[in-house]
Order: sequence, then structure tokens, then C-alpha cells
Amino acid sequence: MSALARAENVTKVYPVGQVKVPALRGVSLEVAAGEFVALVGASGSGKSTLLHILAALTQPTSGRVFLGGAEYGMLSDGARTTIRRRDIGIIFQRFNLLPTLDALGNIEIAREISGEPPDPVYLQRLVDLLGIGARLEHRPSQLSGGEQQRVAIARALIHHPKLLLADEPTGNLDSKNSQAVLDLLERLNRDFGQTIFMITHNIEAAGIAHRVLHMRDGLLADA
Ligand SMILES: Nc1ncnc2c1ncn2[C@@H]1O[C@H](COP(=O)(O)OP(=O)(O)OP(=O)(O)O)[C@@H](O)[C@H]1O
Ligand SMILES: [Mg+2]
Repeated sequence: MSALARAENVTKVYPVGQVKVPALRGVSLEVAAGEFVALVGASGSGKSTLLHILAALTQPTSGRVFLGGAEYGMLSDGARTTIRRRDIGIIFQRFNLLPTLDALGNIEIAREISGEPPDPVYLQRLVDLLGIGARLEHRPSQLSGGEQQRVAIARALIHHPKLLLADEPTGNLDSKNSQAVLDLLERLNRDFGQTIFMITHNIEAAGIAHRVLHMRDGLLADA
């Protein structure tokens, strides 16, 4: 397997007033195409910061980030946004659905802004896989947490991202819904070869990954 995503000696320092908070202190990693990688570590250790950099949401302070061999970490906001919309799908702990759109609208918007034409066959496949067919006209406030997260997963996948990033996707779900979401992620990886990088506090969640990385104080530690 070849490296799909790669980080080389990535640092991130947040200026807070006069103080500089070092969130990442030199992180290198590779995620192979088709791999399912979990990232665990204490609160504040830098996990979300790393995910946001891989997601092209934030620039690193130094270091290099690649997707499919193309470097993007230090590109402008606009250029990183283009890459994110085209190649990256993100699932958040708090779902982050748009409250004014129904479930279908929330899914389709990701495809629209990616610039790809609609693909009703693939949409139907995702809707079936995620079991949300009866909820497409519901707004987020009319959906359970588990349903909202399944809609968010469909939104993250609708444009065929090369890399799916998940920041504690089961963090706001009860154990039954957590298991359902984890089963889905496992299936997406196993049956569709979806490359996944997932932050989790959940030991069972880490258990479905091929590989578990441990973060401590802004560094990846050996397990
Ligand atoms: N926008 C920001 N401005 C300043 N400091 C920040 C910012 N975002 C994160 N930090 C700091 O960077 C460090 C790493 O934060 P990060 O959110 O990456 O941790 P985390 O491992 O995801 O934690 P958690 O498990 O609680 O989500 C923390 O000390 C945090 O306070
Ligand atoms: Mg976090």
C-alpha cells in the first residue's frame, strides 16, 4: 500500500496573548491508501489540532503535509479549501449539520460545493447503507443524535473523498448508536476501501482500526 496522507515534522503553535501554546511539537505520520488508523491520547494532547491540519482546515506552523503526493499544508486558505472540498471528508463529534437544511439538503450541499455533478445512484447507495431513507426530509432538530451523525457521514462521503477524517465521531452518542456508527465506518473501510483517520477516546472504536497511534503532549508516542 502506498502513502495516501503524510505529515512530516509538523508543528503548531497557538499564540494566546503573550503566551505561545505548542499544540504539536514535531509530528510525522503516514496513512496508507485503504488504511483505517485510530488516534488516541489525553485531552489537550493535540489530536484535533493534527486532524484539522490533515483536513486542510488549519495551516501548520512548520512542517509539511501531503495528500496523494501533493503538498498542501502551507497553501493559502482558498487553495486549501479547494482541496478539502474535493478530496477530504470530515465527521465531527457535534455533527455540525446546517440547521436550516433537511437531511437530504445537508448531504447534497457537500457534493455541490465540491463541484461534482449530482450522482443519484451513489446517493441512494449511501442512504441505504446508512439507513436514513425515511429521514431525508427531516431537519437536524427533528433527528436523533445517531441519525444526525449518519447524515453527517453521508455528507462526508458524497463527493468520494480520498481521506475520511473523524474527530470523536461517537463522542456524543449512546453505546447503541456508537456501535452503529463504528460498524458503518468499519464497513466503509472494508467493503469500499475508504481510507479513514479517526480520533477516539473509545477503546472499542480503536479496536476496529488497523493501527492505533498515541499522542502525548503534542508528539506521537510509540504504543
Ligand atoms: N484555537 C486555539 N487557540 C489556542 N490554543 C488552542 C487552540 N486550539 C487548541 N489549543 C490548545 O492546543 C492544545 C491541543 O488542543 P487539541 O484541541 O488539539 O487537543 P485534543 O487532543 O483534541 O483534546 P480533546 O481530547 O480534549 O479534544 C491544547 O492545549 C489547547 O488548549
Ligand atoms: Mg479534540
